[in-house]
Amino acid sequence: MTEGVVAAGSRLLRTLRLQPVDATPVWFMRQAGRALPEYRSIRERYSLLEICAEPELCAQVTLQPLRILDVDAAILFADIMTPLIGIGLDIDIVDGVGPVVAKPLRTSVDLERLKPIEPQADVAPQLETIRLVRSELDGSYDGRPLIGFAGAPFTLASYLIEGRASRDFVETKTLMYRDPALWKQLMDRLAQIVAAYLTAQLEAGAQVVQIFDSWAGALSPADYSRFVAPYSRRVFDAVATTGSPAIHFSSGTSSYIAQVAVAGGDAVSVDWRAPLDRSWKEIGHDRAIQGNLDPLVLLGPWSEVKVQVTKILRRSEGRPGHIFNLGHGVHPRTRPDQLRRVVDWVHESGR
Ligand code: CP3
Repeated sequence: MTEGVVAAGSRLLRTLRLQPVDATPVWFMRQAGRALPEYRSIRERYSLLEICAEPELCAQVTLQPLRILDVDAAILFADIMTPLIGIGLDIDIVDGVGPVVAKPLRTSVDLERLKPIEPQADVAPQLETIRLVRSELDGSYDGRPLIGFAGAPFTLASYLIEGRASRDFVETKTLMYRDPALWKQLMDRLAQIVAAYLTAQLEAGAQVVQIFDSWAGALSPADYSRFVAPYSRRVFDAVATTGSPAIHFSSGTSSYIAQVAVAGGDAVSVDWRAPLDRSWKEIGHDRAIQGNLDPLVLLGPWSEVKVQVTKILRRSEGRPGHIFNLGHGVHPRTRPDQLRRVVDWVHESGR
């Protein structure tokens, strides 16, 4: 592949289609956020939800990592709970805690609060942010794509049932095992909301979507396939009808990554708990793969980071279809110059 023939801006989309590129594309989950001083200074004046409600400001935050880190894609700045706040649930995002649901959902009566989403009304600021970011990306940034995203039904369900992040998922699993019919109703509603939200993001101008199933690793492989996969699958099937690619993120699932892959996604995002080449073989080489540096490696010295990044790149064995990323989000203590060095090194050594 001659350099320059493929525009740098198309690296991510080409990689999702398993086409050759001039350099391995790289972006970071949570690339916009507390690791960046430019983000922190905005957060001194606005809460996270205020940023999300203000399209001009939200577009600015979404674009920050492209300029500062030179990543190959932007990801919409929002939270996984944004569409649920949009349909009227009382949810706050608390510093150092994450989402807190005022009245957790645990009964069939509670489910009535989970009404179908009307994207143009319920998530208007997100759709407007997408339009603003896209026009910037098309103008400058050589057409780098915008990634839209949503939480997967299971991860959203666990927040709604527990009321906040949980270690053991006691309430979630109690509901799931004790009342499978209620579980199904809840997951049906969430799958519908997520599918409609993602479709609206793609219509507004996002070119890829990532579905975050952060807590999928809490279940046994058999229960994942029974209680989670069918609903994720429905979301991926809905996205597939738009013709746009989707990335399937989960964490703690390396022992059943093939089952995660079966649930859908043009690319499967993997964490550091298994080597990239082994996961790719299990997922199948007909799909793209994303990952898989442990985000905390970035807290070590560059010499260590460089060795680990290089090893991951080698494990892709020169195959088209590898998107370099972390196995989970950027830790707030990460130094931005460390992130920038990773981007430069991935681009340089992949050529
Ligand atoms: O740059 C990006 O990746 C886009 C923005 C983004 C945010 N949240 C903004 C945010 C994305 C993609 C998310 C997804 C998200 N939110 C997930 C899935 C990804 C993952 O990490 O597993 C989850 C589980 C959440 C829920 C959530 N929201 C948590 C766990 C936290 C952190 C709590 C804390 O303070 O430690 C949040 C808050 C949040 N969402 C922050 C950001 C930048 C940090 C706090 C802030 O700026 O107020």
